[in-house]
Amino acid sequence: MRTPAAGEIRVGIIGAGLIGQAHSLMLRRISDRTNGGLRVIAVADREARAAENLAARWPEARALASAAQVIADQTIDAVWICTPTAYHREACLMAARAGKHIFCEKPLAMTASDAQEMAAAIRSAGVISQVGLVLRFSPVYTVIRALLSDPSAGAVLTVTMRDDQDFPVRGVHNSAWRNDPSVTAGGTLIEHSVHDFDLLTWMFGPVRRIYCRTRNLNGAAGVEDFGATQMEFAAGFHGQLTSVWHGMIGRPSNRRLEIFAERLFLACDHDSSGPIVLQRGSGAREQVMSEAEVMERFTQILLSERPYLSPLKDSFALAYALEDGAFVAALRGECGADPAFAEGIKAQQLVEAAYASSRQALPVVVQV
Ligand SMILES: NC(=O)c1ccc[n+]([C@@H]2O[C@H](COP(=O)([O-])OP(=O)(O)OC[C@H]3O[C@@H](n4cnc5c(N)ncnc54)[C@H](O)[C@@H]3O)[C@@H](O)[C@H]2O)c1
Repeated sequence: MRTPAAGEIRVGIIGAGLIGQAHSLMLRRISDRTNGGLRVIAVADREARAAENLAARWPEARALASAAQVIADQTIDAVWICTPTAYHREACLMAARAGKHIFCEKPLAMTASDAQEMAAAIRSAGVISQVGLVLRFSPVYTVIRALLSDPSAGAVLTVTMRDDQDFPVRGVHNSAWRNDPSVTAGGTLIEHSVHDFDLLTWMFGPVRRIYCRTRNLNGAAGVEDFGATQMEFAAGFHGQLTSVWHGMIGRPSNRRLEIFAERLFLACDHDSSGPIVLQRGSGAREQVMSEAEVMERFTQILLSERPYLSPLKDSFALAYALEDGAFVAALRGECGADPAFAEGIKAQQLVEAAYASSRQALPVVVQV
């Protein structure tokens, strides 16, 4: 295993679709702001054109056809696994065995048990790994989490979240695999709301019981386009998550979050930057915390919790830049990888509990 702490970090991107391209852009930004300390030197994609187009954005990067070819390059320190979900496991196992550090997109695998096998390979190889649970870098959610941690808010009473997305096989998500149950781990719950399951436990702690109902209108077996999940948190309160894949191409992805604590109401209609609506115990009406104030508070929190991200100060509104920056900092030994692989497994286990509940039409005790 190469330890890139001091020198240039040499990266391979596996999967050059929507998210592979997004990570490439973010890595370029990180490289520019860290004196060129990082370079993508290989891109693999099943589609030669996709690999070539992305490789062309980096000086002298090679366009390859498979994960195995990237991993065979002994000069590569770290890989970003950005293929459709079914192919994460094999790429991750190969990369770990070859001593490559691994950033893997969510969901980690087709099942939590596959993800555990990947984590075991990572542990025994001693490589650094991180999962793409990007909402943990969202300005609005980070500020909401901090507001709730203030004792003046009192205990949380309930949370309601809605996650909606245009059925992601067209438009910006030009990817037929999301309708293919042999390649996707499921539908809206695992492929999109896995972020929400992670976010809600990051904000409110463990869930001990789940009741979920799903529906499928698109006809692809095992690819639900609706999920209503009721969660009982270990802290004693209940929350609701509505996940929906609809047919409005002009509405690619959106989230609403609404929280009541004893003396604080919070709501926001964005999953990244934007204003937060709030009402405090003694307040006569709702107020709006402006987007500018949200960013100011987020900046303070980030600089105190993740000071190693300070070179990205002009990119704090770009959650993908922050998650990649955090992984690069972990590669440099400046911090531990966060969110760790284990968080990706926990989130996937929660979604699997939701699926089990939906199959049985009964509440399920969460064994995480
Ligand atoms: N964190 C996020 O916000 C986020 C957003 C989008 C996608 N994702 C995740 O990223 C992964 C990829 O999603 P996407 O939207 O980029 O999909 P996509 O369809 O846009 O891109 C996938 C790319 O992988 C290539 N590919 C397919 N099989 C391959 C293989 N075996 N080896 C190499 N390349 C292969 C395809 O040709 C395609 O170019 C999925 O797991 C998805 O859930 C995460």
